[in-house]
Amino acid sequence: MAKLSSGYDMPLVGLGTWQAKPEEMEQVITTALQAGYRHIDTAFNYNNEESIGKSLKKWFAEGGKREDLFVTTKLPNFGNRPADVEKYLKLSLEKLGLDYVDMYLVHMPFSFVKDENSEAQAKDAEGSFILDVQDPVEVWKEMEKLVKSGRARSIGLSNFNIDQVQRILNNSEIKPSNLQVELHAYMQQRPLRTFCAGHSIVVTAYSPLGSPGAKQHFQAKYNYSPDKFPDLLGHPVVKKIAEEHGKTTAQILIRHAVQAGVVVIPKSSNPERIKSNVDVFEFKLTDEQMQELDGLDQAEKGRIFDFRFFKGVEEHPEYPFKNEL
Ligand code: A2P
Repeated sequence: MAKLSSGYDMPLVGLGTWQAKPEEMEQVITTALQAGYRHIDTAFNYNNEESIGKSLKKWFAEGGKREDLFVTTKLPNFGNRPADVEKYLKLSLEKLGLDYVDMYLVHMPFSFVKDENSEAQAKDAEGSFILDVQDPVEVWKEMEKLVKSGRARSIGLSNFNIDQVQRILNNSEIKPSNLQVELHAYMQQRPLRTFCAGHSIVVTAYSPLGSPGAKQHFQAKYNYSPDKFPDLLGHPVVKKIAEEHGKTTAQILIRHAVQAGVVVIPKSSNPERIKSNVDVFEFKLTDEQMQELDGLDQAEKGRIFDFRFFKGVEEHPEYPFKNEL
């Protein structure tokens, strides 16, 4: 468990659900709960909260306890303005069939106005959109109210850079207890992790396996170069360490993060992979193996997702990766 500054515990491995098909979601969640996952990560715009809610309902009916679960969801970037915060959490809670979420994250530092003519935008942050400038500090004040009303136990941020997190820290009553960012062997987020450790912010790694499943989609839809997606699961160093332990390369990548205190949310829709991805607590990487894996870091060069598939987003004042472009 990772200890949050809010006082709650966050399970170190959660099930990621981005890019999971809504129609397979119910079965995926049931399998994950049976395999021992107690942490599920979703977002309003993953368009799967309703199916997750259906599985949870079944699990509760069979005796599963709400307090044993840790559910994270996120404020969509088209709801990223003070007046919409409460509305979107309510919508998520209704879909999930829950009275509260364990973690509510501001999904991205920048905001969009939802283009009512674009169905796709509402579903998957794709399609047309209009950039909208909002003050993240004002949004955060509304996030704090959700904690006070008991509808979010803990609150945090996602895809914010150090300066943006610092600004929230400087202007808040309730501090962000979690920051979710892209983090994997090629992009280990060392400066951000050091910063977060100094402010009691737990870091969650998305795309911990390098998001191999998104490769085709991003190539087809956004003309993404296939080189952007690293083959972490086939990397010789990861393979060697996997053989030394008799584990899969995915388990090594997940263990590498967990052993360093980073929360990981690998996505899988495959029952065997769902099971093995959470089975990383019965072995330990040696200091040498940790160092070998640390050595794969390419820092900013390893970033897969820079959000420039949102056309013109780098002009937004809250675009987080300006200095890196
Ligand atoms: P699948 O759902 O078919 O298992 P990330 O969490 O970095 O975004 O990676 C998710 C992608 O990695 C999905 O395409 C998922 O495919 C695949 N994946 C998840 N777990 C494993 C595993 N243990 N071995 C190989 N591929 C995996």
